[in-house]
Amino acid sequence: MRERQGPASGLTEHELSEIRMLIEERTGICFDESRARFFSTRVHEHMQEKGHARGSELLRTIRKSNVEYEALLERLLTQETSFFRYPAVYEALEKRVLPELHVKKFWNAPRTLRIWSAGCATGEEPYSIAIAVADALMFADAWNIEILATEVGRQALKQAETAIYSGRGLTNLSEKQLAAHFTPANGGYQVRPRLRKMVRFAQMNLTQAVYMGRMDLIFCMNVLIYFTEERRRALVHRFYETLEPGGYLFLGHSESLAKIPVKFQAIVLSDCILYRKPTPGEVPKPELVAEGRA
Ligand SMILES: C[S@@+](CC[C@H](N)C(=O)[O-])C[C@H]1O[C@@H](n2cnc3c(N)ncnc32)[C@H](O)[C@@H]1O
Repeated sequence: MRERQGPASGLTEHELSEIRMLIEERTGICFDESRARFFSTRVHEHMQEKGHARGSELLRTIRKSNVEYEALLERLLTQETSFFRYPAVYEALEKRVLPELHVKKFWNAPRTLRIWSAGCATGEEPYSIAIAVADALMFADAWNIEILATEVGRQALKQAETAIYSGRGLTNLSEKQLAAHFTPANGGYQVRPRLRKMVRFAQMNLTQAVYMGRMDLIFCMNVLIYFTEERRRALVHRFYETLEPGGYLFLGHSESLAKIPVKFQAIVLSDCILYRKPTPGEVPKPELVAEGRA
């Protein structure tokens, strides 16, 4: 039986599905029905650009060469982001979480705050965290602030490292924040060195466990929605293990821990939910809702 061909080239449905499975296996990113068209269009574009006439040729190349695999992956990543993407999350960070950490850790020596931005795209998220910390943590300069920002896409990381931004992504920044934390550069705005020193970027695939030490806060916003359920579970368990007791996990607005059996306490605020890892022997407060609450 002849296989159905993809719309514009020698790419069969079977080959398309092989590519989809390879990406899913290596990154956890799932291209389900709702994203099938996006996936197929991007693969076709890639084949055209690379001059592959047949899907079998593309498959052979990406299986053999990591550089070629990453070139295709770059095209398939959704990297939409912006500064202070969910203002309510940053308000909760500034008004509730940072004051709590201040009380908990201020007398520690060294006085360190470790934050992980997992799936940081082009860097707006970790720099927003740095701004919130600089503006809201009491005596911020008296702390060692370490924000580890990781991302699978190398192109996005390159842009993050320049720390220069312009356009729509800056919309949620106030004039005051722009003046305090950025300098004009190349027609845009560059994050000042004080904040850049807090953030360290690293290429990392979230499906491959790498030991990074304990974290006080983990931001993984708008990443889990693209993952298979199995990978989502594994990653949430890893976040739980990585967090300090009393540490927080921040997810995107359309993400939740529903159906994931993990002992985070869901703290429901007016416009967002925070997930807190309980400290040993802690008696849950009424606002701390039971396991896996969405
Ligand atoms: C939609 S962006 C979210 C960016 C930012 N967290 C935010 O909420 O604005 C999702 C990011 O996750 C990254 N990503 C997807 N799969 C990944 C994986 N397996 N490992 C690391 N990063 C991944 C994508 O490249 C993309 O930059």
